[in-house]
Amino acid sequence: MKINRIQLNNFRNYKNSIIDFSDGINFIVGRNAQGKTNLLESIYLSSVGKSPKSCREKQIIMFNENQSKIELSFSTLAGNKNIKFFLDRTNKKSIKVNNINILKLTEFVGILSVVYFSPDELKLIKEVPEDRRNFLDISISQFDRTYLYNLLRYDKILKQRNSILKSTDSVESKIEQLDLFTPQLIECAQIIIEKRLNFIEKLKNIATNIHKFITIDENLDISYSYINTSGLSIKADLQKEFDKVKLKEIDLGYTCVGPHRDDLIFKINGMDCKYYSSQGQQRTVALVVKLSLMEVIKNEIGEYPILLLDDVLSELDQNRQDRLIELISKYQTLITCTKIPETKIKYNIIKVENGSII
Ligand SMILES: Nc1ncnc2c1ncn2[C@@H]1O[C@H](COP(=O)(O)OP(=O)(O)OP(=O)(O)O)[C@@H](O)[C@H]1O
Ligand SMILES: [Mg+2]
Repeated sequence: MKINRIQLNNFRNYKNSIIDFSDGINFIVGRNAQGKTNLLESIYLSSVGKSPKSCREKQIIMFNENQSKIELSFSTLAGNKNIKFFLDRTNKKSIKVNNINILKLTEFVGILSVVYFSPDELKLIKEVPEDRRNFLDISISQFDRTYLYNLLRYDKILKQRNSILKSTDSVESKIEQLDLFTPQLIECAQIIIEKRLNFIEKLKNIATNIHKFITIDENLDISYSYINTSGLSIKADLQKEFDKVKLKEIDLGYTCVGPHRDDLIFKINGMDCKYYSSQGQQRTVALVVKLSLMEVIKNEIGEYPILLLDDVLSELDQNRQDRLIELISKYQTLITCTKIPETKIKYNIIKVENGSII
């Protein structure tokens, strides 16, 4: 895929700007607080439907303005498309693809495929399992609608199941109701776990190679931590585990088993990155995972997504920077920096100053 042009109206510090992009590397360069991250945010928003920052939606509207608009045109193997995003202070929001209104987020995800990396993505390695599950869910949903469908269904059944567990009903009545919901939950859980395992296997094979290329002497391993007790089928294992924890769940008041409790584990040379790796190593792993995701998505959908890299260069040593630039030149990459690094590779420059392109 290739983004050709974006037009921003009252989006953060962009009053009215049109920005054209080229193939390969596009350096978005400027001093601090000029609008580099905001530009990447607008593209992410046009792809995923929400901001990568944990902010309130209305915060994207320019101060003292009432509405914000993004218009983005891009090319895919299936032809040229455009996305229009609109939000106002009354929370009226609309997303259009080729001028047709999108009513459900499930219809929207994956139309413009992007892979995003910012220093915040370190949470993929450092923070809680929920961040890693989010990574799995957002990544797989980009190319697999069945996954997204089952994920949404799983969440719905899980909520119903938890409200039964929390209710004041008798234990007998709870058991009776759980017996209705647990098989439905297991059905979705099995699909989610199988698809996650399949994705991680593909990601791992690519990531190990890219990681070796960037670091030279480190060995990366990625695995999925889930209920896997007997080596039987996932369904049988889940069933067995649910039977085992039934009374404990009633006591605790929530569902203790299932993909909403699973985790992703990264190891360098056999050591868990979360506990043993340096900051630079963790950053490199998070970045390598995102670069590998580019390849996995390409294998699934037949073309590369757009790569958005925020503030990544200043944090890597020269060798790692050189290898990274070499790797990303084959994608359409939008990469922010305060100073353009020395490189022999061809690139385009977009200079940002105070919400304008100069
Ligand atoms: N809703 C808004 N309306 C107007 N300006 C905003 C809004 N939200 C954020 N800004 C401003 O946008 C400016 C630029 O932010 P941005 O994060 O894009 O900077 P940056 O160029 O990435 O800087 P850095 O190099 O420090 O990362 C900030 O100074 C902020 O005050
Ligand atoms: Mg920034």
